[in-house]
Amino acid sequence: MLILGIETSCDETAVAVVENGQRVLSNVISSSQKLFASLAGVIPEEAARRQVECMIPVLQAALATANVRVHDISFIAVTQGPGLLGSLLVGTTTARTLAHLWGIPLLPVHHTLGHLTSPWLSMPENPVCTPQFPILSLSASGGHTDVWLRTDHLRGALLGRTRDDAAGEAFDKGASLLDLPYPGGPSIAREAEGGDETRYTFPEPLKAEQTLDFSYSGLKTALRYLLRDDPSARASRKDVAASYQFALCKHLVRRIQQILRLHPEIREVHLVGGVSANTRLRAMTQELCNQCGIILRAPTPLSFCTDNAAMIAAAGYFLHRSHTGPFSRTFVTSASLPIEETLIQHC
Ligand code: KG4
Ligand code: ZN
Repeated sequence: MLILGIETSCDETAVAVVENGQRVLSNVISSSQKLFASLAGVIPEEAARRQVECMIPVLQAALATANVRVHDISFIAVTQGPGLLGSLLVGTTTARTLAHLWGIPLLPVHHTLGHLTSPWLSMPENPVCTPQFPILSLSASGGHTDVWLRTDHLRGALLGRTRDDAAGEAFDKGASLLDLPYPGGPSIAREAEGGDETRYTFPEPLKAEQTLDFSYSGLKTALRYLLRDDPSARASRKDVAASYQFALCKHLVRRIQQILRLHPEIREVHLVGGVSANTRLRAMTQELCNQCGIILRAPTPLSFCTDNAAMIAAAGYFLHRSHTGPFSRTFVTSASLPIEETLIQHC
């Protein structure tokens, strides 16, 4: 089965062709990130305008790279939400039009379900992997941070989520405080290279509470105060970046550790979402998984961590596999789409 995936939830225009939910035949992304590098974030209207311009060339490139004909495509999967509404509409309108013209089904996909499916993706030259449930999936990006115990592609229990900022947001806001470019994750990671991560100590969030939730706003505020109050900090940006990155990652890894203790039935740990591209986070989680004798998977290559259309096509495949009956093209494109409408909650 060949699935065409379309993803436009933020500043990227992405189209991919994926075979049977795993083999990525093409994964084309055009991003307007450079445009926003000097700002602390994305300007929604400007992002959507760029996406209108990029969509057709990106679509053509994805079909050409995959070397497939239009009538070989079985169905289209598109990000329904959440995200920037104007951007999402560029994707869903394109997908609806193509599905109508080509006479094929169209599947709306929750953006986070795409991220959760990204460890299944592989490039054609690599063997396809077969992850084993139950899986602990930590999904950390610019918009959300949550941790799931998944028993199936569409079934899982939400064990914890952020109460305020997302982990990626903490990287982005931290970078802005440190005068580093957007997006903050890669810039803080670069700045942290060679820095001393033990030099500055940040408070552990929600330490006094019995919870699996996350909280990132306090860490960002602690960074703000450090830069304001400690004269050495501005001049030691590498150490500050490394210490801040370490604190952000430690909060995530601590939750994984707690959950592995509570749920010995877990067979694999998956890191997904833009923050899973962080090599320090991967190394810290790998160390923990080695101690517990458990498999760690994170999207490979790193381009499958951040927003892409291959993950949307893959999630669409698994949705399609478990769906009986016709698909309707009349779904609502939504900036704030609860994941609960896609993932069946059960403990
Ligand atoms: O999943 P994603 O591409 O978009 C959303 O769904 O939000 O994630 C983007 C987020 C941004 O906040 C970005 O700073 C962060 O992921 N990010 C990283 C890294 N690469 C991207 N955070 C830490 N380390 C990285 N290497
Ligand atoms: Zn994302």
